[in-house]
Amino acid sequence: MSAEMLEIIKKRRSIRKFTEEEVSDQNLDEILKAGLLAPSSKNKKPVEFIVVKDRETIKKLKDCKSMGTIGLDTAPVVIAVIADSETSDVWVEDASIAATMMQLVAENLSLGSVWIQMRCRQSTNGDSEAAVREVLNIPEKYGVSCLLAIGHKAEERAPYKDEDADFNRVHKETY
Ligand SMILES: Cc1cc2nc3c(=O)[nH]c(=O)nc-3n(C[C@H](O)[C@H](O)[C@H](O)COP(=O)(O)O)c2cc1C
Repeated sequence: MSAEMLEIIKKRRSIRKFTEEEVSDQNLDEILKAGLLAPSSKNKKPVEFIVVKDRETIKKLKDCKSMGTIGLDTAPVVIAVIADSETSDVWVEDASIAATMMQLVAENLSLGSVWIQMRCRQSTNGDSEAAVREVLNIPEKYGVSCLLAIGHKAEERAPYKDEDADFNRVHKETY
């Protein structure tokens, strides 16, 4: 991996406050390209994306989950990362890889992003995934991995340092 790539990985932090500036269509396309070109098991490409800019819809998405949705308050764009669970038995992994690659491209464009988990989460009205499906009219067979809140950063977060990489979590040859 080039030093440049590692710098982007270190700079990427979860950003939950965004300015009012819109994300350009060109930047949005680059982020989506990263998701569309992400690897998938057996190359089945089960992952799809729903781009949401409408503030009323974003408010409804916030109501789909009880906690951890601050990033939706100011995000000018939200991308729902969904995947066809009938096409792939490992759609969760496929969707996670796509979302992560999109966050790295966002950082490379100096944009902020945060992953907002929907799978296995609840709102006061029940299952978050089901609620997102209803708000965005997503067919039942699609799993909802996460919502990516994306925008221009309105908060600064320190990049990771090399020392933050805890090599105690690395085992050699056996555990
Ligand atoms: C699977 C997953 C689920 C997450 N869910 C949420 C969430 O629902 N809301 C949120 O604000 N951040 C969420 N995050 C962001 C984490 O809180 C964040 O990555 C972690 O605290 C480390 O901070 P960093 O992203 O700045 O390195 C999630 C991250 C991952 C990978």
